[in-house]
Amino acid sequence: FAQGWVFIRGVPAMKFLPPEGPLEIAFAGRSNVGKSSLINAIIGQKGLARTSNTPGRTQELNYFVPDGHSGEGGDLPPLAVVDMPGYGFAEAPKEQVDAWTRLVFDYLRGRTTLKRVYLLIDARHGVKKNDAEVLDLLDRAAVSYQIVLTKIDKIKPAGVPRLIEETAQAIRKRAAAYPEILATSSEKGAGLDELRAAIAQLLEE
Ligand code: GTP
Ligand code: MG
Repeated sequence: FAQGWVFIRGVPAMKFLPPEGPLEIAFAGRSNVGKSSLINAIIGQKGLARTSNTPGRTQELNYFVPDGHSGEGGDLPPLAVVDMPGYGFAEAPKEQVDAWTRLVFDYLRGRTTLKRVYLLIDARHGVKKNDAEVLDLLDRAAVSYQIVLTKIDKIKPAGVPRLIEETAQAIRKRAAAYPEILATSSEKGAGLDELRAAIAQLLEE
């Protein structure tokens, strides 16, 4: 992530997806879990993905690519990072929730160049029912994913190893889960190098 990154497109529905490049990774998770913040933190550009206190900030599939790869002239980016709308945001109007959920599910199921999903779980809340539904979908669709705990600055440091262990146990039998759980804080910078290393390794596979 040494070079600059740019936003290229917000995708409100499947038919507006950009052409499939070589590799794509997506950040998924419940509303407000910290997807946009984590993308900004690992890329090192504060205002790149828009973040907010209010759940439901990100409403489209937002595509980010390394600067210089945003042209339409067939120069596909080596990696695209996708910031997804959150799921499980109860206060939004039902039609909107349904539309986001459909988009998130269709994308996760249908995007063939999606190499891995980083499924974010708030360290304070753990795996909720709607997270489990997304995990089921990813397992069924055989889309590789890795769990990333977020906001670990909000829990006692002594509790982190046990939370990692519990989360690892919860996904042990899941077919498409990458076994290693990452624990991160976008605020404090914890776990960011590990996440960057995981993505770098993915690029080499
Ligand atoms: P939606 O787009 O609405 O689904 O949310 P999101 O998952 O993109 O979350 P976002 O990055 O907008 O962050 C939500 C809130 O959590 C913001 O107020 C962030 O400042 C806060 N937040 C994100 N990461 C961290 C973290 O590591 N630690 C703490 N303490 N707060 C965080
Ligand atoms: Mg967001």
